[in-house]
Amino acid sequence: KQSIHGSWANRWIFILAATGSAVGLGNIWKFPYITGENGGGAFVLVYLFCIMLVGIPIMMGEILVGRRARQSPINAVRETAAEAGLNKNWSLIGWLGVLAGYIIFSFYSVVAGWVLHYIAGMGTGQFVDISSDLAGERFTNLLASPDQMLVWHTLFVLMVVGVVAGGVNKGLERATKIMMPALFVLLLVLLGYSVNTGSFGQGWSFLFSFNPEALTWDAVLVALGHAFFTLSLGMGAIMAYGSYMGKKDSIGVTVLTIGVLDTLVALVAGLAIFPVVFANQMDPAAGPGLMFITLPVAFGQMPGGQVFGFLFFLLVGVAAWTSAISLLEPATAWLVERFGLKRLPAALLLGVIVWLMGIASLLSFNHWEEIKLLGMGIFDFLDFITANVMLPLSGLMIAIYSGWMLNKHITRDELALGSNMTYSAWSLVIRFIAPVAVMVIFVVNLYDKLA
Ligand code: PHE
Ligand code: NA
Repeated sequence: KQSIHGSWANRWIFILAATGSAVGLGNIWKFPYITGENGGGAFVLVYLFCIMLVGIPIMMGEILVGRRARQSPINAVRETAAEAGLNKNWSLIGWLGVLAGYIIFSFYSVVAGWVLHYIAGMGTGQFVDISSDLAGERFTNLLASPDQMLVWHTLFVLMVVGVVAGGVNKGLERATKIMMPALFVLLLVLLGYSVNTGSFGQGWSFLFSFNPEALTWDAVLVALGHAFFTLSLGMGAIMAYGSYMGKKDSIGVTVLTIGVLDTLVALVAGLAIFPVVFANQMDPAAGPGLMFITLPVAFGQMPGGQVFGFLFFLLVGVAAWTSAISLLEPATAWLVERFGLKRLPAALLLGVIVWLMGIASLLSFNHWEEIKLLGMGIFDFLDFITANVMLPLSGLMIAIYSGWMLNKHITRDELALGSNMTYSAWSLVIRFIAPVAVMVIFVVNLYDKLA
């Protein structure tokens, strides 16, 4: 059986496409700044555990469901549930994922819009060689100017709709083939720069020296939430991509490869960024402003900084683009399946809705400040409920669904994990370790935040 949307030409295209989804703002913007805020080394270690013990097994669960049914996430869960003789309401998992992905897309594209703005600014040389006051002011001004943000947000949504409208082979696959090699090359060039800053060792030890005092419950939760976010889990993206995967390819091996690549990119991004930060005596714990304020100043102070800065934001832009494509794909595939729409109108319709939602986010910085949800502005609130509530919940349900609900013969057959031992290892982790870890951290955190 084949998906009506097409399938990846080969195993490597699938790996690269899924890696394109995984590698995004999460790796290059969020990972470095949360690592900075949470004290470095100890946080990185916890994060690696979350990837291995929770992220990888759940990713396998998602892909196996997608590939089994060869349909969009909502229909894939419904169909596998039918095959296993389960209630069709299990498809709510698919809905939760698609909804989460959709909400994420709305504010993700606002941030991606800032990145486009910075690509342009760096490219024309306007954004370099400035003091930190100026850099801060520039960023504050951007947040205060909805019309500027709107231009870039709109452009980004169009870029994503354009690719998704092309379909799996002429859109997603073609974009993957061009953008992923470009992304790896850019990353290596940037690493080369940072090795030459003279502060490489300091950046290295910030990431890799173990400092348990810095570790809090909060940090553990952030690490877990980020493990979901960075691997694109819990929102249908990976399940949808899995539904276009070849029948013979091993799910275990491909998922491991994707997990390793995503982690490597995050670490290399950290190694490209922190030395530059230290070389210019700046603060690694600058938070979300790390990329938009700290780095531009650092670029302005280093030789060749304009080129470096331009390449850096180009890298971030490419990474954000391939990720956002995977956020729009699941819902688009569903519209095509459900209503028999063509790709273009389906992607366009969804693009318009998400574009409008994004506007609410970008207005929340300087205009709709009175609107507070759980004490947060719209943008922060959407980030919070997706990363800390919807994704863990959705991941938990996928673990329960693929580990406990689906018959063993279905999961075994799809995973084709050679030996009994590997299968037992996967099923132990997906049934016990992953759900318990997610549940504990999820409950502790919500209690902390809301009590
Ligand atoms: N994984 C992406 C990142 O790290 C974000 C993302 C989440 C993309 C979910 C698609 C789906 O930036
Ligand atoms: Na990622």
